[in-house]
Amino acid sequence: MSASPSVYPEPTPAEMRELVTRIAAEPDSWRHLVRHDPDRRTYEQISRDGPLGLWVICWMNDHDTGFHDHDISSGAICVIDGAIKHERLVIGGEPSVVIYGPGDSFCFDASEVHRMSHWGDVPAVTIHAYSPPLWRMGAYATDDDGTLHRHSISYAEELRPVLPDRRDLRASSTLSGTPKAATADASAIKAPGRRSTDTSSPSRSKPKSGGSATR
Ligand SMILES: [Fe+2]
Repeated sequence: MSASPSVYPEPTPAEMRELVTRIAAEPDSWRHLVRHDPDRRTYEQISRDGPLGLWVICWMNDHDTGFHDHDISSGAICVIDGAIKHERLVIGGEPSVVIYGPGDSFCFDASEVHRMSHWGDVPAVTIHAYSPPLWRMGAYATDDDGTLHRHSISYAEELRPVLPDRRDLRASSTLSGTPKAATADASAIKAPGRRSTDTSSPSRSKPKSGGSATR
């Protein structure tokens, strides 16, 4: 008797990392979904089946998710084209930062708070796996006094840096508007803080022309 999808085991972050690397090598399944928009990230679901959701996301012009979590979902990401800056939130210190380029991959568990942003001058494409498939996410903002707040948002909303009153989230729910709300930012690139789920090799830093490590 075959098992129903509801009892399929959830893949581990490491298994998802292997999967996104494999899918990256199968462009027939996602290349038609690649579309770059200068004003926002574009994200298209490749599939949502049982315990797994797969996405292709396109980045350019410093597109930035802001710090966020994935509620109960773990995940993995593989970079196809371009480069992505990945930050992990560190309480009491600067974020841990790694720049990932083509062919690099990494994974994370549901407990992590991270941020991704476009890096460099070449539009980027990334493949993402989440398990269970994304439903809710947490977007983080800080008050003037530095108090951290978590805003629960739908997976259908575009993640952006969050203002305390969520003005930017309301704007992004229409998939238009102006991003770049102020939020906690990395003030320096430093050696990556490795986690047990992150066994990838960080790619070479690829500075923006005339830019610095901060954005
Ligand atoms: Fe994320």
